[in-house]
Amino acid sequence: MPDKLRVGVIGAGRWSNSAHLPGFQRSPLCDLVAVCDLNEDLAKSAAARFDIDSVYTDYQAMLSRDDIDVIDVCTRGDLSDKNNHEPLAFAALEAGKHCLCEKPVAHDYRNTWRAHELAVSKGLKTKVGMTFRYAPSIQYMRDLIADGFVGEPWIFNGYEQNSQFISPTEPVTKEDMIVETGSKDIKVSSVEGYGAPIIDISLWFMDSPLKSLVGLLYNFVPYRTMPNGDFIRTNIDDGDVYIGEYSNGGFCTIQTSYVTVNSYPGVEARVYGSEGALLCRLGAELENQEALRKSTSPDADEVEYVAVDIPPSYFPPAYTPGEPWPAMFYANLVHNFMEEIVNDSGENQGNFAQNAQVQEIINAVELSHRERRWVDLPLPESTPL
Ligand SMILES: NC(=O)c1ccc[n+]([C@@H]2O[C@H](COP(=O)([O-])OP(=O)(O)OC[C@H]3O[C@@H](n4cnc5c(N)ncnc54)[C@H](O)[C@@H]3O)[C@@H](O)[C@H]2O)c1
Repeated sequence: MPDKLRVGVIGAGRWSNSAHLPGFQRSPLCDLVAVCDLNEDLAKSAAARFDIDSVYTDYQAMLSRDDIDVIDVCTRGDLSDKNNHEPLAFAALEAGKHCLCEKPVAHDYRNTWRAHELAVSKGLKTKVGMTFRYAPSIQYMRDLIADGFVGEPWIFNGYEQNSQFISPTEPVTKEDMIVETGSKDIKVSSVEGYGAPIIDISLWFMDSPLKSLVGLLYNFVPYRTMPNGDFIRTNIDDGDVYIGEYSNGGFCTIQTSYVTVNSYPGVEARVYGSEGALLCRLGAELENQEALRKSTSPDADEVEYVAVDIPPSYFPPAYTPGEPWPAMFYANLVHNFMEEIVNDSGENQGNFAQNAQVQEIINAVELSHRERRWVDLPLPESTPL
């Protein structure tokens, strides 16, 4: 293993510049050596800003380099050929590179499993850009649960909700929001784009797969402005909810939306157990943008919840209080991935296998909505998606 991992990034757009590239720059365990974007100007400006030697517009040329250890896939992730994460993640693994990939790795959970199996067969580590798992308060909350603070976890309530697209005049910025006028079937959007991180956290905290779920997709703001200015009928899932039952007992409710009055990122995770409860909120209005509260009081008349201080070890390298959450949470994610590779231990949290479980739940919520019924998990291999 080299002293420092050498990293190449595919995609130099908005999220890459605000979260991924600054994250790699902060980790003392790696060097950014190459950046690739179909738009050469974007790649060049990222290279100048983050002091990166090599610029590419063809990701295959970057992947053919022997001196790159880690590839980061940060394209848009819609189904258009060029943006789709899936072929890029497979190509990176085929080329023998550890791979960080934005969500979703694939829209069909079975292909995410295949990518995981490919990585395992080549001794490579993977990670998915589940930003909120790496918020210091969420990482600490998970350790408190694992240490028994809540006793046996019974109920998980999760939310990821904000107001990004509450106004119908807000032009859509996501390819998956563009749907032909008159389309009958609601199209999955919020449950995949916003649901994935909180579903990921729910599985991690409750430490159990789901055995069944029932879900509902909803379109609250049907008419929307397209990038070309047209005002059309969309029919996309801009709000959704499901109830899930865990294999080990207990249940969850998960609700996501991008048309609810709420601040960024609008993530909430609550766990109620046999001996206590923990509540965490990530929101721009909070001091340091996160708050964790705990209670072990069985007396409902007492003031129950008290604030929990997060130990300094849960913060990323070069942390400064009050810094914006995208860079802060992502710096934790990136550094954690670099540590997992360098330490060469069995640790690999939030990897493609974990994401395949998340994606399977998203696929099951869609099926439950379309067929208006409870859906058992795991899904049969032959399920049409
Ligand atoms: N986890 C989070 O909180 C969070 C927040 C925002 C965005 N995201 C995710 O980040 C990803 C990127 O989003 P964005 O807003 O930066 O998109 P963007 O469109 O601004 O940037 C994507 C870039 O990828 C480039 N690209 C596409 N296909 C390519 C290819 N084959 N080779 C090289 N370059 C290619 C495009 O030219 C573009 O510049 C998305 O998957 C999005 O869901 C995650």
